[in-house]
Amino acid sequence: MLSNLVYRSRARVDLTHDDLVHIERSARERNEDLGVTGVLLFDGSYFCQFLEGPEAVVRDVYALVRNSRLHHRVVTLLEDYAPRRRFADWGMRLLNVRASPQEQIVSALHGALKPGVDLPRDDRAFRLIRAFAAGRWRDHAMDGDDPARWTFRADPASVIHAPPPLASDTCQFALQPIVDTTAGRISSLEALMRGPTGGSPQSCFEALSPEQYHRFDLEAKCHAFELVARMGGIGKSKLSINLLPMSLVRVPDAVDYLLDQIARHGLTPERVILEITEEEAISHFDLFQTALKRLRAHGVSLAIDDFGAGFAGLSLLSRFQPDKLKIDRQIVQGIHADGPRQAIVRAIISCCSALGITIVAEGVETPEEWSWLQAAGIDLFQGFLFARPMLNGIPAVNWPVPVAETH
Ligand SMILES: Cc1cc2nc3c(=O)[nH]c(=O)nc-3n(C[C@H](O)[C@H](O)[C@H](O)COP(=O)(O)O)c2cc1C
Repeated sequence: MLSNLVYRSRARVDLTHDDLVHIERSARERNEDLGVTGVLLFDGSYFCQFLEGPEAVVRDVYALVRNSRLHHRVVTLLEDYAPRRRFADWGMRLLNVRASPQEQIVSALHGALKPGVDLPRDDRAFRLIRAFAAGRWRDHAMDGDDPARWTFRADPASVIHAPPPLASDTCQFALQPIVDTTAGRISSLEALMRGPTGGSPQSCFEALSPEQYHRFDLEAKCHAFELVARMGGIGKSKLSINLLPMSLVRVPDAVDYLLDQIARHGLTPERVILEITEEEAISHFDLFQTALKRLRAHGVSLAIDDFGAGFAGLSLLSRFQPDKLKIDRQIVQGIHADGPRQAIVRAIISCCSALGITIVAEGVETPEEWSWLQAAGIDLFQGFLFARPMLNGIPAVNWPVPVAETH
């Protein structure tokens, strides 16, 4: 299958003219041998390259390109398939967009098209290349911070082990910190349900009827509040709990039950964040909204969980605006090198900032992901990079520290 790929990267600051000549020459020779065609644009700081050829070969060449020490911050913008090649015999040609007017670049690109190839105006690859030639890509793209500037150091001060729960309890909870890396504080602790012996909570829900299922989902939360009481409180952090939306609809006294349990365990509603996990479609939206209104009126904060996964999407956000929106781990994973994910997250940031909603990035596992996300303007993070969930307690947090400060 004929595949094509577009990426953008940043040249190393010490890149010389000879390096450019070397890149073009060695790229062309190798590409001609392998049956790869394409074009490489350079604007003095950034590269944008289009590669086309058999899928496996393009993948191998891209792996080699990504490893070159002559550039970094390689971000994949497009991976696609096409019925025919666009470029005739350009194994690789370098066009310097800073040295030539845009029209010249565009006419050079059109001149390079394979005879008989008439590109539609909405050809994505060509639109990306033209946007780069025109410098328009800078409006909606950005580099992350340099992850090499940071190291991560565990702070054991936050660790708390609670006494074990009663053996008769139906479930236990693990706590995972959601951290504000700019302020260096734990913003909230998410209570994650575990089974009666601390393993997967799957067994808790098995063999429950739909009616029992939602009641159990709701009533299990009292064990999370009870864990906080056993620990003697959680300082200034808030407690995040997850709830299926239909638990608020199907269990008639759900809001009263939650408020009562919060008070019983020495917490206040202002200290609780309710994360709505939209694993299931919401029916009776009016009842759901009535429950949310009452919770808000008592001071409980609301969050949309796993935003971008399953049903938790734009339609829910258009119908109710939470205090926090948690971007799903699938969108966060590998974001520093992924153009489509970066564009989606930047649009979410712009939308949330217009609505005054705070964003949490979930599932952050690498310094590269974190440094891109925080440069994009996100302050709150959750993920293994900072802390794994800890059963019946609060784990140590790994905080980012500038490398210079560690010497
Ligand atoms: C921006 C850029 C584009 C490249 N394009 C290609 C290419 O299309 N085909 C290819 O075989 N190698 C390509 N390369 C790799 C170079 O031809 C060369 O093998 C590589 O830069 C040498 O590795 P080094 O820079 O680590 O010494 C590219 C490298 C860079 C920096």
